[in-house]
Amino acid sequence: MDLTHSSAVVTGAASGLGAATAHALAARGVRVLGLDLPAQLEDIAPAPGVEYVAADVTDEALVAAALERVPTEAPLRLVVNCAGIAPARRLLSSKGVHDLATFRRTIEVNLVGTFNVLRLAAEVIARTEPDADGQRGLIVNTASVAAYEGQIGQTAYAASKGAIVGLTLPAARDLARHGIRVNTIAPGIVATPLLTALGPQVVDSLAASVPFPPRLARPDEYAQLVLMLAEHDYLNGETIRMDGALRMAPQ
Ligand SMILES: NC(=O)c1ccc[n+]([C@@H]2O[C@H](COP(=O)([O-])OP(=O)(O)OC[C@H]3O[C@@H](n4cnc5c(N)ncnc54)[C@H](O)[C@@H]3O)[C@@H](O)[C@H]2O)c1
Repeated sequence: MDLTHSSAVVTGAASGLGAATAHALAARGVRVLGLDLPAQLEDIAPAPGVEYVAADVTDEALVAAALERVPTEAPLRLVVNCAGIAPARRLLSSKGVHDLATFRRTIEVNLVGTFNVLRLAAEVIARTEPDADGQRGLIVNTASVAAYEGQIGQTAYAASKGAIVGLTLPAARDLARHGIRVNTIAPGIVATPLLTALGPQVVDSLAASVPFPPRLARPDEYAQLVLMLAEHDYLNGETIRMDGALRMAPQ
């Protein structure tokens, strides 16, 4: 799919994978709407080609309003769902039983938020003119290798990401008649601020657990995969692991 003169929506655009993707798309001349929470956008440095919009991905009205800002002269062709949270709680621990609120919140942000953006953006993309192949756009979701190998303390996170993997094929099937593809990326361990904050020792031991290359992935490698997915029209309904052959151990 040709992204020339098009717009993209990237959620979680203030940090990590979303930020790298927003910058990479803007560098290609794509008009990017970068959604994130208001607090995250307060002191954000302006990025050429990226318009930041404060919107919680779980909020129907805010996401719909954000999508109205897509410029008419640059049709929406690409949506990248990066917003997410990753709380860790054991089912049973010295602090007691896993609270229901954390489980619900994780499902709400990661799964319901992804679905909310996917459905509302699909409606906007479906109104655009198709290209010569009948294609209108692509939606990329972000799962995690935890969808397959959730670690200790990751029941909520793994459930939310497993559900994103699960919805990828039926979403692609639903939207096929509109010329919209849906794919999901399941990253392994990526060097985002969230992860590097764990400190060099933890980062080094995580890096050593990756078969090859024995390092953390870089956020720009995620962005590169998004661009590859955009370019490859036959990739649809698929979840792609980006993990250096890593299979997570129980902890
Ligand atoms: N970093 C990794 O190693 C890794 C691995 C696998 C999957 N992932 C997934 O990739 C995605 C991005 O992770 P990251 O490492 O870039 O994290 P990050 O914390 O650097 O960025 C996530 C962004 O999402 C935003 N966000 C959170 N809740 C939101 C909401 N309700 N509405 C709008 N924005 C919201 C945050 O403010 C933040 O800017 C997440 O879904 C995460 O689960 C990351």
